[in-house]
This record gives sequence, structure tokens and C-alpha cells, in this order.
Amino acid sequence: MKTELIQIKEEDLQTTKGQRKLDAAAALLQKGEVVAFPTETVYGLGADGMHAESSKKIYEAKGRPSDNPLILHIAEFEQLSGIACDISDNAWKIMKAFWPGPMTIILKKKPEVPKETTGGLDTVAIRMPNHPVARELILKANLPIAAPSANRSGRPSPTLARHVMEDMNGRIPMILDGGKVGIGIESTIIDMTGENPVILRPGYITPEMIDQVVAGVSIDPAILGGPMAANLKPKAPGMKYRHYAPSGDMTLVEGEPEKVISKINALASEKREEGYRVGIIGTDENILAYQADVIISMGSRKDPENIAANLYGTLREMDERGVQFIFSESVGEEKFYGAIRNRILKAAGYQVLKV
Ligand code: TXA
Ligand code: MG
Repeated sequence: MKTELIQIKEEDLQTTKGQRKLDAAAALLQKGEVVAFPTETVYGLGADGMHAESSKKIYEAKGRPSDNPLILHIAEFEQLSGIACDISDNAWKIMKAFWPGPMTIILKKKPEVPKETTGGLDTVAIRMPNHPVARELILKANLPIAAPSANRSGRPSPTLARHVMEDMNGRIPMILDGGKVGIGIESTIIDMTGENPVILRPGYITPEMIDQVVAGVSIDPAILGGPMAANLKPKAPGMKYRHYAPSGDMTLVEGEPEKVISKINALASEKREEGYRVGIIGTDENILAYQADVIISMGSRKDPENIAANLYGTLREMDERGVQFIFSESVGEEKFYGAIRNRILKAAGYQVLKV
């Protein structure tokens, strides 16, 4: 299969040419084909979420286990009535507060949503993205679009169309290239099948922000990581997989900055002496202090948005540059940093050294 890469910027949406590009993408979706598209979080791998055959094509292209459910993407509140039921007042409050935006809600599913889309569950994950290309595409296709992140299973999520091409070339007919995504890590998932919000995956929308809308927020204990969580089964099935991972063996080093820098340099020099190619992931504040084969800064510690936007690209670059061992700084847990830390921990397979 030949994969077409179509450039489409936000301003193209006002032109006939831009609209024709989207028409072509929407027509593919209506025929049951898979199209990758940009969202504000990461690129998605979309198909008609209401037909089992289309959802199956997503799992095939991604190489994903079929018990790992997909998120249905909608553009308007009217689309909800066809896919979810028993929606509580608190669930409505959450949706009204955070949509369109980087928030996925878990609700009870309508029978019309195929089990192939929800991985056999009787609940369904739903998100209304605010990226203009995603919104227009969903409106044109006039379907709930099932879309996981557009990476091959186990790879870091794509934040550029080039990343999607690396993983999906020859496997899907079309990729819409809307440039670099804004946020760079996946949406916050909130389970609203009970009265109170339960966070199943941390993201840009933090527990503090949710608490302002509906009090009594809790976090699924299985996603907090560390040895304690090893035998807990996460409520979001996807959170159990080793995700976001580069090919190189990655270790996080945490502690006081000076100690972190000297430990990372010591580990890097040890591995280089053994003949390995070594990469270091740091932050602007410390980056000049490192020695290794590949050294990349995720951005400034004062700017978590920037770190999130660069994280997956940095992990992919370590792969591209053939790095075998990666030593990385970590980040804290306050507010949005918690979501970033969750992704870094997973990339490192929870290998953490405290100094
Ligand atoms: O930001 C995002 O959410 C991106 C963009 C493309 O929208 N999508 C994304 O999809 O990250 P994916 O498939 O990579 O992650 C979806 C997560 C998985 O961990 C999955 O297990 C969980 O959502 N999930 C889906 N349906 C669920 C359900 N009914 N109950 C609990 N977890 C569910
Ligand atoms: Mg994913």
C-alpha cells in the first residue's frame, strides 16, 4: 500500500484546496479505511469507530493487542447520544469544562458501539479534540472516529507527521501532516462511570483542575508506578503495556541536581568504556555539564509545556542515532509535571536510580 502524506495547515482550512484535501481524507474514513491525523496531544490513527471491520484495521496497522480499547473522537456534543448512555450530572460538568480539549472521558457504552472498538468492555472512551484539522475531519466524515496514538505498538507516540511516516509507511493509505502538535503527551483519561472522577491516565488536565469542577478526584493506584503498583491491574488496559519506549536501555537518575549530573556522567563514561553508544537526556539548566555520544535537552525545567512537547521526539531521536544506553534526568510531580514524569518512568521501564 502506498501512503500519501498530505500537508494541511490550520489556515488551509479556509481554502478550497484545503477543503478538498479533507474531503479526500473523510471519504477514506467513510469507506472504512485508516487515516492518520493531528490532534493537540499526539497524532491519531483514525477509522470509523462504529464498524468492527474498520477498528480491526487500526489494530492491524498498529500491531496492537485487540484487548486494548480505542478512544472515540467526536466534534459535537450531539454525537454523544449515539455512543454513550447513563451520563451523570458530574460527567456532564467534566465534559462541559474540558471539551474541546485534551481530556478523554470513560462512560457506559451504547450497544451500537462494537466490542471491537472497546476491547470487549461495556464502557467507551470518548474525546472531543480541539485541533482544527481533527475537528473538521470528524465533522466531514460525520462519524465517531476511533483513534489510538499513531505509533506502532510500544513506540513513543508521534508528535510530528514524520514520526507517523516512520511507523506507518506502507500500512495505511493517508497521513494528514498538520505540523508539530501542541501538547505532546496523550490526553488525561477520566473514568466517570461512577459518581466521582477517577484518573486512569495523567495528562495536561491535572487533578487540581478536575477538582475545581467536580470534587473528590482520585487516581487509579495502578498508574502511580513503582514496585507497589506492580501487581495492581490498571483500569485503562493500555496502561499495563511497556509504552513510550525507546530501543535503548533507559535509566532515570533522581536527586539533587549536582549529584544527578555527576552520577549520569559516571554511568555514561562507564558504558562508553565498555564500547556502547550512550545518550543523555537532560534539561537546559544542566545540559552543558554532560559528556556522551548524544546529548539532548528536553527544554527548561521552568517550562513543563515545552518539556512535554519535546519528550517523545527526544526518545525517537535517541533511536535514530543508534543509542544503546540512555541516562536521563527526571522531573517532579507537582501539577502537569506528574503527567510528564509518568511518561518518562514508563519509557525507562521504571528503572530509577536515587542519588
Ligand atoms: O491524546 C490522546 O488520547 C490520543 C489522541 C490520538 O487522541 N489517543 C490516545 O489513544 O492516546 P491510545 O489508544 O494510545 O490510548 C488510549 C488509552 C489506552 O490506555 C486504553 O486502554 C484506554 O485509553 N481506554 C480506552 N477505552 C477505555 C475504557 N473503556 N476503559 C478504560 N480505559 C480505556
Ligand atoms: Mg498510545
